[in-house]
Amino acid sequence: MALKPQPGIMDVSPYVGGESKVEGVDRICRLASNENPLGASDAAKKAYLAIAEDLHRYPDGGSYLLRTGIAEAEDLDAERIVCGAGSDELLGLLINAYVGVDDEVVYNEHGFLMYPIGTKIAGGVPVKANETDLRIDIDAMLAAVTDKTRIMFLANPNNPTGSYITETELRRLRAELRDDVLLVIDAAYCEYVDNADYINGAALVEENDNVVMTRTFSKIHGLASLRLGWAYCSAEVADVLNRVRGPFNVSLAAQSAGVAAIKDKEHITRSKELNNRLLNWFRQQVSELGLGTHDSVGNFVLVNFGSGERAAEALAFLKNKGVLVRGMSAYGLAEHIRISIGTEEEMRVVVDSLTAFIND
Ligand SMILES: Cc1ncc(COP(=O)(O)O)c(C=O)c1O
Repeated sequence: MALKPQPGIMDVSPYVGGESKVEGVDRICRLASNENPLGASDAAKKAYLAIAEDLHRYPDGGSYLLRTGIAEAEDLDAERIVCGAGSDELLGLLINAYVGVDDEVVYNEHGFLMYPIGTKIAGGVPVKANETDLRIDIDAMLAAVTDKTRIMFLANPNNPTGSYITETELRRLRAELRDDVLLVIDAAYCEYVDNADYINGAALVEENDNVVMTRTFSKIHGLASLRLGWAYCSAEVADVLNRVRGPFNVSLAAQSAGVAAIKDKEHITRSKELNNRLLNWFRQQVSELGLGTHDSVGNFVLVNFGSGERAAEALAFLKNKGVLVRGMSAYGLAEHIRISIGTEEEMRVVVDSLTAFIND
C-alpha cells in the first residue's frame, strides 16, 4: 500500500524564503526578508555567546526568564505569554489546536503566506477576504466568515503591503466577529509603528478571551536565525498552546539572547530611527524615478513596476547587481517587488541599481 499523507498536505506550495546568495557576486545586499540591517544588539550577542558552556543542557521548557523579561519590557502578564521557535511555530500550533479537517480559516487577501499554508497542513480550508487598495477591508473579512470559520488571521501592519488598520477598525472587527472565532493579530512589525491610531493588540487580548497577539524577535530585534517568537493570549489559550507545543521548543541560545534583546531599548530605538529615515528617503528616490510605492509603516516597501513582466525584469536586473529583494507573485502582486529597508549604503546601492534599470 502506498504511503499517504493527511488530506491537504499535498496541496501545500512550500514556503520559499528570500534569497541570500548570488553566484559570482561578492557584495550582496540582502533585502528580501525584512531583517534588521543593524543585526542583533551587542548585549544579545554577548548573551548568546555566554551559553556555550551549557550547550549540553536542556533549556527551561517554560522559558520563564524570557517570559518575565518580555512581560517587564512590554508591561504585560507573563502568565499569558507562550514562547515559540519563531512566530511561525505559534501560528501553526494555533491552527493545529483549533482547526480540524474542512474547518475554515479567514485571512486577508495579501496576508502572510504561512496562514494558508498552516491551514492546509491541518486539512482546513483557507478563505481569502479581499482587500481594498492593498488594505485590510473589515467588512470583507466579516463577510468571509461562515459557520465553519474557526480562526481569523490578520497581520497588523501587514506584510507585504505595509498598510495597517486602526484601533477603531480592529475593535469593530472583534466586536462583530462571532465569539467562537479566534482572532489572531500578527504584530510582527508593530515596533516600527508610531501612528497614534494604531494598537498592537495586547489591550484587546486583555479584554477578550478570544484574541491572540503574536510577536517576533526576527525583525526589530535582529534575531531571525535563532527562531524566536511569542504569543500573548488568554489563560485558556495559553494552556492549550502549552499542551501542544514541544516541551523544549525554544533553545537556550534563543531564550538568553531574547532576554538581552528585549531589554536593549537603545538598540530598538536606533533600529527604528534608521528605518524611519531611510524608508522616507527611499520612497522619495523611487518616486523620482517614476515608480509607484505604497505607504508603509513596516521595515519594507512595495514598489510597483506596472506589469508582472517589468517587475520580473527588475528582479533579475537587481539580482545581477547583488541586490536581493522579493518577487510578489506568490502574493498575487506580480507587478510589485518588496524591498526591505537596509543600511544607508545598501539603500544607495538599490537606488543606483534601479536608476540603471530604468535607463537601461
Ligand atoms: C507578518 C509576519 N508574521 C510572521 C512572520 C514570521 O516570523 P518568525 O521569524 O517569528 O517566524 C513573518 C516573517 O516574515 C511575517 O512577515
